[in-house]
Amino acid sequence: MHVTEDARLKRTVFGIEFPNPVGLGAGFDKNAVLVDELSCLGFGFIEIGTVTPRPQPGNPKPRMFRLPADQGIINRMGFNNYGSKAAAEKLCRKKSNMIIGGNIGKNKDTPNECAIDDYEICFRDLFDAVDYFVVNVSSPNTPGLRELQEKEPLKKILNRLQEVNAELAQRSTVNSRQSTVTRKPLLLKIAPDLTNDQLNDIIEIVIDTKLDGVVATNTTISRSNLRTQNSQLETIGNGGLSGKPLSKRSTEVIRYLHSKSGGKFSIIGVGGIHSAEDTIEKLNAGASLVQIYTGFVYEGPGLVKRINRELLKKQ
Ligand SMILES: Cc1cc2nc3c(=O)[nH]c(=O)nc-3n(C[C@H](O)[C@H](O)[C@H](O)COP(=O)(O)O)c2cc1C
Repeated sequence: MHVTEDARLKRTVFGIEFPNPVGLGAGFDKNAVLVDELSCLGFGFIEIGTVTPRPQPGNPKPRMFRLPADQGIINRMGFNNYGSKAAAEKLCRKKSNMIIGGNIGKNKDTPNECAIDDYEICFRDLFDAVDYFVVNVSSPNTPGLRELQEKEPLKKILNRLQEVNAELAQRSTVNSRQSTVTRKPLLLKIAPDLTNDQLNDIIEIVIDTKLDGVVATNTTISRSNLRTQNSQLETIGNGGLSGKPLSKRSTEVIRYLHSKSGGKFSIIGVGGIHSAEDTIEKLNAGASLVQIYTGFVYEGPGLVKRINRELLKKQ
């Protein structure tokens, strides 16, 4: 048996029983084409996407840059993906029983006024194929997307998805891991660049729209405290920064959300986790689960098992 399957690592979060708390962050397997292969590495869950309703190519290359001096990555992929229907088809053919999150977004050429329809299409397409949903309004690489984090547009999108959730849950009888409810847990993924006032709004919205939780955080547009030369950063240009330089801020956001909300919703902590210590820091700040992406790139696939082994030692 893998260390990642040890019963002591199990935890039930938003009604789903996770075999261990270490997941793969969105953006790595955007099209759900590697789920069976990635399952062998011991992840407790995998978040696929971000998917959009229609396939789109994303930004011109180069669009991903390593910052080795900082153990970071800057990316401006721009939601390159094959579309939500293609992802759903792939997931229906997967062999492993990996827990799957569906991270959904809008097409680049969909104006923000119509974004709500894009989210609904993705939600309907993926409903039977995923275990939980994440609404992504926090990527810095789709122009205007983060404006959807504002109170009014965000409430509209989330309320609509909850209505569709209830509608689809009524007719869904099979394919659910949840014993008592058949609606899908719905989470919101937020940027680390929000102010405390904006985070207060997020807390209010999450509670008002009865979301199950928050994924904190996406990549940052900040470039402060980096070892990488400014000239190199200018050459790279725009994009979201991930990895070690993001760790402190993402933990701060988790701690703030958890304490200010009194733990009213679950938090998936993500941002700069490169070790077991980083994981424990996020869990202590109030996260129930964590995700890794950049740490997985720098540390290699053994990181998942190393983290879980250390978590077991702390039991
Ligand atoms: C190349 C790359 C692509 C990403 N694509 C997405 C995406 O499509 N959707 C999303 O919600 N987050 C995406 N992310 C953000 C990650 O899921 C994660 O929130 C962020 O990188 C912070 O975690 P990390 O420091 O462990 O990488 C991407 C990150 C990287 C590095």
